[in-house]
Parts: sequence; structure tokens; C-alpha cells
Amino acid sequence: MPKKAFFISTAIDYPSAPPHLGHLYEKVCADAIARWKQLNNFNVHFSTGTDEHGQKIERKAEENNLTPKKFADKMSKSFIKLCKTYSISHNDFIRTTEPRHKTAVEHFMKKIRRDIYKGTYEGSYCTDCETFYQEKDLDNGNCKIHKKPTEYLKEEAYFFRMSKYQNQLMENLKNNPILPEHKKNEILERLKEPLKDLCISRTSIKWGIPLPFDKKHTVYIWGDALTNYLTTIGYPKSSYKTFWPADIHIIGKDIIWHHYVIWHSLLMSARLKTPKLIFVHGFINIEGEKMSKSRGTVIDPAKLAEKYPIDSIRYYLIRETPFGDDGDFSEHALTARHNGELANELGNLLNRIIILTEKKLNSTIKKDKSDSEIFKSLNIKKISGHMDSYELHKALEEIFKFVQECNRYANGKEPWKLEDKAQINNTIYNLADSMRIISILLSPFMPQASEKINSQLNVKAGKIKDCRHGLLKTTKIKKGEILFPRIQ
Ligand code: MSP
Repeated sequence: MPKKAFFISTAIDYPSAPPHLGHLYEKVCADAIARWKQLNNFNVHFSTGTDEHGQKIERKAEENNLTPKKFADKMSKSFIKLCKTYSISHNDFIRTTEPRHKTAVEHFMKKIRRDIYKGTYEGSYCTDCETFYQEKDLDNGNCKIHKKPTEYLKEEAYFFRMSKYQNQLMENLKNNPILPEHKKNEILERLKEPLKDLCISRTSIKWGIPLPFDKKHTVYIWGDALTNYLTTIGYPKSSYKTFWPADIHIIGKDIIWHHYVIWHSLLMSARLKTPKLIFVHGFINIEGEKMSKSRGTVIDPAKLAEKYPIDSIRYYLIRETPFGDDGDFSEHALTARHNGELANELGNLLNRIIILTEKKLNSTIKKDKSDSEIFKSLNIKKISGHMDSYELHKALEEIFKFVQECNRYANGKEPWKLEDKAQINNTIYNLADSMRIISILLSPFMPQASEKINSQLNVKAGKIKDCRHGLLKTTKIKKGEILFPRIQ
């Protein structure tokens, strides 16, 4: 049977500055979902990338005395590197300055041409969020997100008849295309007011894709950026249909309007299906406040990776904050989780298995009978259920309940005190078989640790279907380094 397709994307980041912890958070969560789907045998397309056009990049490049393209080339490298450092398993990193993207945007713009008309845009614009605002959306003239004054614009522009899609957008909300629920309700409230048409082109900036039917105009950055979700799957070539509509767009809470109201209405106009789900995650804050350059609270994930194992960071980010809520970052909490669940519980369990096998079984665990006592606390259905509802933190919590249960089982059996070889083998076999399953379940969250566990148990990486007890064959273990050395 052909594999079922699953298309997951993150937002594409503005490479106006190096990546920060928020960018990493989104990628790590999306990666865990993508890897989970892989484990379940889906044909996964996982895209991430950089959003390189627009006024913000144009200005930053100027400040750096570089052309926008040179600046984008330089900056996007740090985002690509970030993905590598943190073992992100994307199969496409899309840059909006690539020729394939220009082709897709031009094609898409032509498709929606009948909903586009010429006029003049007059009003406020926030370059940091590259968004047009009405007076009522501002706080004393300041952008509510960036807490900075907006700019006043008056220029010739093309408009997209977004207002035409108001009812369809409202109607489509009944299909629950936004999670968490309260985020959907926010949009529902905003859609109760009359929807305005969207300015879809700019004439005062040149750094972008020219509008195919009037090259004096540049496609508005969000029209350009959102189309990346089609470019990445091959649009306009018909092969894009394998992965469209997207199963899930993972985004932060500041860009829901763009992803629901703008993106869906554009797609409706182009007569394309709309994404099945937009999952909105919260923001990672520092002591309750947004990360801020001026306060020096921007966390650089590259530096963090020099100090802590990347799997500990990945684990901490997913486990600490319920997916969808805002979270707070602290090194103290990260260290506590590393030393607690990872070193004392998971690491200790593996260590016990390896040391005991070495000492008591001459490094070989023989295939043996499964003990239902240990496996009754493993609830794969529950874990899968949490993953299906994108409650990633709960899935991790449930997996770790099993880790704790395994340690309890070892404490109860005390194989280190036993003399009977058969009894020792049976206890260790059951612990090692459990560890094999734990390694599969944890691989979406901590891929490097999972590989290390497999290597020490001397087993191949498995899939979800292998999360059944009794599948461990006789194995000669290979002692390796401590999985998570404690951080002092
Ligand atoms: N370029 C646009 C997205 C276009 S998608 C078609 C953009 N870029 S961004 O660099 O500002 O943000 C990229 C992603 O990071 C967004 O989903 C945003 O919500 C997320 N985050 C930015 N700061 C964040 C935190 N502090 N915490 C968690 N995620 C945050 O918007």
C-alpha cells in the first residue's frame, strides 16, 4: 500500500538577525511531529526556511552595507546551520529568493488576478511585522506587537478582494482549522467585523518579486511568503497535489491572522484547497517578558548548544511548556530537567541495564519470556492519542511514566543481588526490551539519545509497530558513554 502523505511546515523566518530561541522552539516541535509521523510510516514532507524579501530585510542589508541578496545569503546560513545543529529532519529548506519560488508566486498571482484591482494605499505599516494596520489595531499609533510607532504610507497599490471571502472564511472555521480552540475563537471574533481588502503590492520597495502583470509593483511580502507552502511541494507542477492541502502549518501566535484570513482567502481565490490545520504555539519568554535585544534577553540557540546537549534542550523545550501555551525559558529549569528525568531516570535506567549485562551476563542478553508486570504500564494508545491531538508535552510525560516504572521494576527485582543466571537474564531482558521501546518512542524528541541507546543495546532503530514487548532478540551489548552526564 502506498504511504499516506503528510505535509508539515514551520513558518519561514525573517533572517534580519540571527535565529533566536523562539525560532528553534517552533522547529523542534514541528520536528517531533514530523518524526512521529515517520515512525508511523507516513510519507512526510517537512518544510522550513527563510523569508528573505521585503522592507525589513532591505533596510537591514543597507545598515550592513550589503545588497539585500548578499545579506540574505549570509544570514540564511545561520538558520540552515541551526537546523543541522539541532537535528531538524526537514526535507526542504526554502529560501524565498530562489527561482522556483518566483515561478510559484508569479503563477499564483495570475490565478488570483480576477480578484485584484488597482488603487492607492494610505495608512499605517509596521515594518517589523511587515503588516498594514488600521488605526483601531494600534496602541496610540504604536504596533501592539513591537511596541513601536508605525510608518505612514501613501502609494499606488493593487488590492486583493479579501472582503469577498468573509463568509467563506467564517464558514470554514466550522471545520476547526485552527488549534488551540481559543485561538480559533480569537479569529472568529475579529471576523465578525467587516473584512477589508488587502493591499497586495508595494511600489516604494523594490526588494521582492515583481507583480507579473505590472512589474513596477512588488508583491507584498506576505503574499510572497505564504506561497512558500506551495513552492516547497513543487507548485505549479501538478506533483504538488501529493502533499496539498497541507496537513499542518505550525506557527506562532503573532501570525494567525496572516495564516488564516490572508492565506485561506488567497487560496480560496486561487480555487485551491485550504490547509487542514494551523497549529498556533505560544511564545517562549524570558521571565515572563518577550525576548528583547535592548534588554539583552535574546537567547542564541547556537550558544546554548555549546553549553548543553541538544537533546536536553529539545526535551526541555517540548516538555516544559504545554504546546499552544506561552512558556518561560530558564537555564535553571533546563538543568533541573536534564539532571532529573534525563540523567537520573532515563540515563540511569540504560546504565543499569548495560552495567548489569556486562557484569552478570558476560555482555549478552538472551531472548527470554516477557513479564507482563513491567509492560502493563506502557500505554502506546495514550501516547499516540496525545501526539494526534498535538499535546506533545503529555506524550513525553506518558513515555517517562514508563521509564519510571522500569526503574521501579528494577528496584523491586534487584537483579544486582540475584545469583540465579536465568532470573537475572529474565529481568534484564525485560528491562532491555522496554528500553528498546522507549528508544523508539523518544526518537522524535531526542533523536541523538535514541541512536545512542540503540547502539548500546545493539539494536536497529524501530518504528511504532515495533513498540510491542518480546521483539528484542538475543543481543551482545556495546557499552558506550554515559547517556546524560549530570550537570553540576
Ligand atoms: N516571516 C514571517 C513568517 C512567514 S510564514 C509564511 C515571520 N518571521 S519571524 O522570524 O518573525 O517568525 C518566525 C516564527 O517564529 C513565527 O511563527 C513566530 O511566531 C515565531 N516566533 C518568534 N518569536 C517567538 C518566540 N519568542 N517564541 C516562540 N516563537 C516565536 O513571522
